[in-house]
Amino acid sequence: MSRLVVISNRVALPSAHGAAGAQGGLAGALDAALKARGGLWFGWSGQEHEDPSAAPAMQTRDSVTFATIDLSPQDVEEYYNGYANETIWPLFHYRLDLTKFELETGRGYERVNERFAAAVAPLVGPDDIVWVHDYHLIPLGQNLRRRGIRNRMGFFLHIPWPPTRLLVSLPFHQRLVRTLLDYDVVGFQCDEWLTSFQHYCRAELGAEVNETTGAVTVEGRTTIARAYPIGIDFDHLRALAETGEARQMAQRVLSSTRRRTAMIGVDRLDYSKGLPERMDGVARFFDRNPDRVGELVFIQIAPPSREAIGSYQQIRALLEQKTGQINGALSRVDLVPVRYVNQGHSLAELIGVYRASKIGLVTPLRDGMNLVAKEYVAAQDPGDPGVLILSRFAGAAQQLDDALLINPHSPDDIASAIRDALDMPLDERIARWRPMFECVRDQNIQNWTADILRDLEA
Ligand code: G6P
Repeated sequence: MSRLVVISNRVALPSAHGAAGAQGGLAGALDAALKARGGLWFGWSGQEHEDPSAAPAMQTRDSVTFATIDLSPQDVEEYYNGYANETIWPLFHYRLDLTKFELETGRGYERVNERFAAAVAPLVGPDDIVWVHDYHLIPLGQNLRRRGIRNRMGFFLHIPWPPTRLLVSLPFHQRLVRTLLDYDVVGFQCDEWLTSFQHYCRAELGAEVNETTGAVTVEGRTTIARAYPIGIDFDHLRALAETGEARQMAQRVLSSTRRRTAMIGVDRLDYSKGLPERMDGVARFFDRNPDRVGELVFIQIAPPSREAIGSYQQIRALLEQKTGQINGALSRVDLVPVRYVNQGHSLAELIGVYRASKIGLVTPLRDGMNLVAKEYVAAQDPGDPGVLILSRFAGAAQQLDDALLINPHSPDDIASAIRDALDMPLDERIARWRPMFECVRDQNIQNWTADILRDLEA
């Protein structure tokens, strides 16, 4: 079996284990994928250094070796805060209004990709499989090829791929997208993003696309592009549900909500997650059902994310304002309808909160997949499962279509789904939950890795 070399911007270093809700889906998923198979994980240390060393720092835990480099403050500003998170992230989440187009940050992005390539290339052995992840590192494959790396090389995009009409507003869009053709396999979270990619390749690059095999051919060079929906580490998660940490957390939620129903949301504090819109939906539910204010407690866990970026500071302020308005209007001395928590939590604690919450509210405006939805389903008690309310604009909705699917832009849609969830009889809850549970059990992280590696090895 060839060794796996995983490359991503964020690395779940053993020494700095972040809270599950704060680090996002990628780090947790890759952690599980690598743990099962072993290999090398290369990326940014998360540290800034005025004059960073070119050679990576190495550490090994079990069968995984971690190799990381520091970045300079200018690198972080241009590559991470700038091009990755103020250009690609908003544009790929359909937020042209928040997208910045700056030549300097584009140059910084290319410079840091070249630094990654220079640092990781000497670590790649002749038979290794190289697997690059996410929007920070789209051109990395090309940088590696230019350095003579001939290995099998795959790329996986964890976020949506935008419609062609949006993508063409990016200056030098062809230059960016063409670099993807240096990979042997390019993976997307679901068919919708894959279809947009194929459309772009046909319309802008004159590609031939074979929809059966996934082959995208441009000027004689073929890349396989397919959808591989990412999953969760199902067995690990079910085992976590039995731990003292999870049980205690479930108990804390239950004893503090008593006869009221807990409804849970867990998201990085990101504008793509639709948090202010969600609060509007919750407020609409209370407006329309004033006699039910005492029935529901909404717990929103939202660890701050990418705090140096203005759009993230603004979304945080807006969310605080909306939460304050609901609680100001509806709280009583013995009742607070919304618990807004900025703190991050361990995965075991989150599983406990999911288990104790009879409604899971997952309403991103746009999301590559959304693993919170899958974790919520996996954590439920089979005899008394909760109800998942899910945005139709999350990649997960294509698999979890027995959830109550809503339009996250519509406060009325959210409000009526909350009412339906509160009133849903046990037999319907079980009937909706069971196929979703089977889906997250069977299409798990191990299968995701195996599917992509099979295509890469073929
Ligand atoms: C999303 C992205 C990941 C990223 C995560 C956390 O899930 O797809 O690539 O790691 O958010 O964001 P951060 O900027 O903190 O790494």
